[in-house]
Amino acid sequence: MAKIFSGIKPTGVVTLGNYLGAMKQFVDLQDEHDAFYCVVDLHSITVPLDRLELMDNTRKLAALYLACGLDPEKATIFVQSEVKAHAQLGWMLTCISGMGELGRMTQYKDKSQGGDNVGTGLFIYPTLMAADILLYGTELVPVGDDQKQHVELTRDLAERFNKRYYETFTIPEPLIQKEGARIMSLTNPVKKMSKSDANTKGYISMLDEPNVIRKKIKSAVTDSSGVISFDRENKPGISNLLEIYSLSTNTPLDELVERYKDSNYGTFKQDVAEAVVSLLEPIQARYHELVDSAELDAILDAGREKAEAVANKNLAKIEKAMGLSRKRAKVNK
Ligand code: AMP
Ligand code: TRP
Repeated sequence: MAKIFSGIKPTGVVTLGNYLGAMKQFVDLQDEHDAFYCVVDLHSITVPLDRLELMDNTRKLAALYLACGLDPEKATIFVQSEVKAHAQLGWMLTCISGMGELGRMTQYKDKSQGGDNVGTGLFIYPTLMAADILLYGTELVPVGDDQKQHVELTRDLAERFNKRYYETFTIPEPLIQKEGARIMSLTNPVKKMSKSDANTKGYISMLDEPNVIRKKIKSAVTDSSGVISFDRENKPGISNLLEIYSLSTNTPLDELVERYKDSNYGTFKQDVAEAVVSLLEPIQARYHELVDSAELDAILDAGREKAEAVANKNLAKIEKAMGLSRKRAKVNK
């Protein structure tokens, strides 16, 4: 079974983009793979965040993982800061990374734009992400399109380490699905749907009330042609809604295009909204049962233990490879 690792930051709202672009795939992959899914809270502190809010967000995201169908019997689900090896390996990888390559990361460039107060954490964030991935001998990393560059950097760091010391790391591959890799904003469909959008109408939160979801989809920006067809370049708004509809109901895109070819935007939007509401209602119900439960803590405790066992064993080998050891033992390749 191929090893999988992925994570989402507990930074406020979890959007439908996170679900369709990442979490849905996590669920699909857990049956056939040895999967580790992490709430990456150490990544959240790269920007200032209220401490109580962070605690709540961590719980909320873990509850959503489970509510969406991640199964602790199949996958290891845990919180990053509880497994100390992540930060340790993050530092070790920072030491073999270059300022130039980190400065080229587009997410860093976007997030640091125009700011005098750019945190160092934001700059070295990809080395921590690399540590998350490499610590578990990961082969596949399911992520949205925007994370591809970070997985490529992870590969570069792993190859550099293997060359400089000795063959230690498995070289991971990004796993990016064709559809859903980039769910766009409802108010500006040429931009990614993001929780950091100042306009809350741009995104659907996984916890939005049904009527809020209906309103947001009804007011989604489209175009004036009135034709329902899939053309991301010329009809980004309608194409995005088609994609959301397709992924929410597991219906192929061309089947939807055929079904709505003589329909109008009003009817189409109503149907998209109902599809999203039907998708999210059971997830939200399960979420509310879990979020303050002892069951959630028990699952995360067990997840930490399973993750720690693998992480600590691998970290010991990686430390030896780098020379972080008093004992001048021969390496066991
Ligand atoms: P983040 O919220 O930035 O921690 O992202 C968590 C995961 O969700 C990553 O794999 C992202 O690539 C994915 N993701 C976030 N926003 C979107 C989006 N609008 N469309 C598709 N995937 C997304
Ligand atoms: N950087 C990722 C994001 O912003 C989150 C993340 C952290 C991650 N560590 C990871 C994703 C390891 C995949 C694997 O979405």
